[in-house]
Amino acid sequence: MSVQPIRLFGDPVLRTKAVEVVDFDAELRRLVSDLTDTMLEAPGAGLAAPQIGVGLRVFTWSVDGEVGHLVNPVLDLSEETQDGPEGCLSIPGMVFDCRRALSVVARGFNQHGEPVTIEGSEKLARAIQHETDHLDGILFVDRLDPDGRKAAMRAIREAEWFGLDRPTVKVSPHRTNGLGF
Ligand code: NI
Repeated sequence: MSVQPIRLFGDPVLRTKAVEVVDFDAELRRLVSDLTDTMLEAPGAGLAAPQIGVGLRVFTWSVDGEVGHLVNPVLDLSEETQDGPEGCLSIPGMVFDCRRALSVVARGFNQHGEPVTIEGSEKLARAIQHETDHLDGILFVDRLDPDGRKAAMRAIREAEWFGLDRPTVKVSPHRTNGLGF
């Protein structure tokens, strides 16, 4: 078990595009293990490598009792959309309605370098889209409508954790009730 500190909004690593994994080695397996442990401990529905300070295209999810991971994901999104509450472990204590594709087909690799395809809808689809965004330096507040984004940015500026000298502070004063990704 190796729970890592979760980087918070304002940390530049969250705005940096992650690079593709080329070595499917022990280090990658340790990363997947760390992501899984950190996500489950939070607890959260998903976690992407940049959120623990690693700029690689890897994420994990935990949705409806199913725990998984994906490396180098490529997404195929449905045209049909869903509106629903979303949060982020890097923006603790905040949940806003966010529009996402209703379902997704995600192609990539598992930690052993074997090709895998993940098909998900609703919450799993939301998690996969949210985590893949993290790999491109995109945060869910970027996806909100203008009013929602304004409210979110105001709430972030006023949050007690924002602008702390310790950007790796992990313990959130507020849980996200399972809606943090
Ligand atoms: Ni997130």
